[in-house]
Amino acid sequence: MKETDKAVGIIGLGSYVPDKIVTNCDLEKTVATSDQWIVERTGIKERHIAEAGMTTSDMAARAAKEALKKAGVSAEEIDLIIVATVTPDMLFPSTSCLVQDKIKAVNAAAFDLAAGCSGFVYGLVTGSQFIKAGLYKKILVIGAETLSRIVDWTDRGTCILFGDGAGAAVLSELSPGFGLLGSELGADGSGGEFLKVSAGGSAMPASQETIDTRQHFLSMHGNEVFRFATKIMGEAANRALEAAGLTSEDVDCFVPHQANIRIIQSSARRLKIPMEKVFVNVEKYGNTSAASIPIAMEEAEREGRIKDGDVVVLVGFGAGLTWASCVLKWGKGE
Ligand code: ACO
Repeated sequence: MKETDKAVGIIGLGSYVPDKIVTNCDLEKTVATSDQWIVERTGIKERHIAEAGMTTSDMAARAAKEALKKAGVSAEEIDLIIVATVTPDMLFPSTSCLVQDKIKAVNAAAFDLAAGCSGFVYGLVTGSQFIKAGLYKKILVIGAETLSRIVDWTDRGTCILFGDGAGAAVLSELSPGFGLLGSELGADGSGGEFLKVSAGGSAMPASQETIDTRQHFLSMHGNEVFRFATKIMGEAANRALEAAGLTSEDVDCFVPHQANIRIIQSSARRLKIPMEKVFVNVEKYGNTSAASIPIAMEEAEREGRIKDGDVVVLVGFGAGLTWASCVLKWGKGE
């Protein structure tokens, strides 16, 4: 989708990860795995895990407060909160409503968005349209996950992959030429089986049997997801660049969903973007699903890897199956 009319983009970023770190060596003690296997197959060395009692909305609120501070925007000025998550505090009320209360964004509408690991970019593109349409002026988009609560810690095929955390962005109108230049949102529901939590919804309400058969935990066909991811990341990023009238040669920083270093390297290769321009922090956090891209962007900006005037490409893939990409011209342009 080519972005027209008003320029809309990010004016402040925030992130939060819990203090507790679980290393690959820690996991060696609980499942039949090794640090070497995990590093070679995924690039992950450690992940942050929320202490008991800390929820998705707690982490989201912390990230949101930092993003508001950096943007110089008060909580009362926020018109809408979108929380992208597959690990809400509870089925309802929405996590976005819980965040609204925690940060006292008393004038904000609030809803959750479920698009798996593509959720943050889905939220960014969706939120931007409200500003372009003239309905709202300031929007908080948050990706937040407590995946440790839905991971089966006895399944070595999945428990090594995931971590907890949150990232937030404040969206606002910008000077012409800045912000969102192009995007693509996509879905292929026929792949829903590859990555899911079967129990706890209307299809399979929670029961003793669903607990005994561990169906309230995340299950995944890793190879299918891997194949889908390596194909779609490059294609979706290219189509967003095309919509923006740019090519991969124009990209200053590529911030892909942080799931697996091999998926990241493969998509960079397909896009012909050198690894020096690719931001990677999967080794420290593992896959934090909807939180991974905003956590990475915040870190990239803090480290000077994203600067005003840069062309930044974000691309995610995830449960659904879904994908989402966008091209941003960084900075406010004032
Ligand atoms: N430690 C040691 N051995 C392991 C482990 C482990 N943690 N996990 C699996 N193995 C074994 C398997 O049992 C298998 O053994 P076998 O050959 O004796 O059967 C062998 O290692 C190879 O297993 P594969 O599954 O083929 O390993 P692969 O190289 O494909 O890596 C992985 C698996 C890392 C899960 C990979 O498929 C992957 O990253 N997939 C994408 C997953 C992903 O990104 N998911 C997130 C989606 S985003 C969202 O919305 C949440």
